[in-house]
Amino acid sequence: MNKMKKYYYGICFLISVAINILFSTYLYVGDGRWGENNQEISCRSSLTWSEKAASEAEAVAAISCSGHGRAFLDGSISYGQPVCECYGCYGGTDCSELSPGCAADANSGDPIYLEPFWMQNAADTTVVISGWHRMSYEYDDDPMMSTELDKYIRKLHSIAGNAITQDRYIVFGVGSSQLLSAAVYALSSEISSSPSNVLASIPFYHLYKDQTRFFNSENFLFRGDTSSWKSNNSTDNMDVIEFVTSPTNPGGELKKAVLGGKTIYDHAYFWPQFTPIPGPSDHDLMIFSLSKLTGHAGTRFGWAIIKDKDVYEKVLNYIYLANAGISKDTQLRVLKVLKVAIKEDGKPFFEFAYNKMKDRWDRLAFVFSNSTRFSIQQRHPLHCNFFHESRLPSPAYAWVRCERDEDEDCRVVLEAGRIIGQSGSTFSAKDRYARLSLIKSQDDFELLLQRLTELVSFENGNMETM
Ligand SMILES: Cc1ncc(COP(=O)(O)O)c(C=O)c1O
Repeated sequence: MNKMKKYYYGICFLISVAINILFSTYLYVGDGRWGENNQEISCRSSLTWSEKAASEAEAVAAISCSGHGRAFLDGSISYGQPVCECYGCYGGTDCSELSPGCAADANSGDPIYLEPFWMQNAADTTVVISGWHRMSYEYDDDPMMSTELDKYIRKLHSIAGNAITQDRYIVFGVGSSQLLSAAVYALSSEISSSPSNVLASIPFYHLYKDQTRFFNSENFLFRGDTSSWKSNNSTDNMDVIEFVTSPTNPGGELKKAVLGGKTIYDHAYFWPQFTPIPGPSDHDLMIFSLSKLTGHAGTRFGWAIIKDKDVYEKVLNYIYLANAGISKDTQLRVLKVLKVAIKEDGKPFFEFAYNKMKDRWDRLAFVFSNSTRFSIQQRHPLHCNFFHESRLPSPAYAWVRCERDEDEDCRVVLEAGRIIGQSGSTFSAKDRYARLSLIKSQDDFELLLQRLTELVSFENGNMETM
């Protein structure tokens, strides 16, 4: 009997050991596994030092600012409380006061349009930065760039289908703005007796001209518009660096180089929410920006994809000399945001962003369809490889043309209708055009639409001038 008991206890003991081994394997190898199939780091149920930071972050986020502004941890403090920073025409301590008659500000390309998406994904995109997070200038395996982030950027492009990254070098910059000037530096000739000619096609993003002139080098010179250059010069044997903005800012059109020299493809807006993606871009030097992709302009992050090793080393050297690489805190945040952007092959993120832009364009196009005084750019459908169907572009900006002969300065005409835009000449185009930003907050867009509707109804009331 005793023997039977011992035998029975022995079996029970063995079964319990086996169950424990199975449990431990499941917990530590299964769930807590690191790698491709499980990117999440398993969390301990009780936190020690991050709780305070988390509750501070949640407390400031809980300040509603009446839904018309935001309070931030690093914002001003008044009476011990973070101050609400109000959108557009809202004011007061809690942003509840709409200022009547206030002008709709559609001037800047501040991309707040995706704020609701990031609020919906708060749990997955919040970053906790410890006091000792990456204090070094360098990463373990690279002085300046996170190899993990590099990997995710390549994954993002393969999902969006908008750029070839295989066998290409990637360099990070403080916003794509920094990479634009790094690219001009890298492509310009140091040995030639005359400076490289830097050009862009009107209407072009003003920074190309402003930076090239500001950095005032004997190696490069801004020469203006490609078409006028082409009609006055033969490009044979000319050292030309052409900025190709595709899609254009303003306009939103996909473009190709016209001069046949060296090119810098600025793809800040080459994402499925702004344009159908006909196929992956495969140019020698392509520049992308986090600002317009996810809306995190304040994070200041951009990247260049480069074919040629010499050019890559020059761009890298520029970034190293300018600021010894970019903030490691920034890179951590970008990694966190991109991991969410590419979830489920980018569907939730790009669907959200596209629907937001499409909705804004549908409503805007309806208002302009009732006007003969103002027109906006024509949009043409194109097959999008990301959404697998033909879609209309939904550009970040409306490029408005004032049609009446006397309305020579469209910005001024819009301003009289309490709408603030940028004049055509900011983009080296005619002032008969003005640019209106469509990527600001929902409040800003609603007010813009209201002011445009008023302007168009005024026109249809047969009033001669505003
Ligand atoms: C065409 C284009 N390129 C580059 C940039 C710069 O973007 P960032 O420096 O924020 O990456 C902008 C910003 O508006 C832009 O419109």
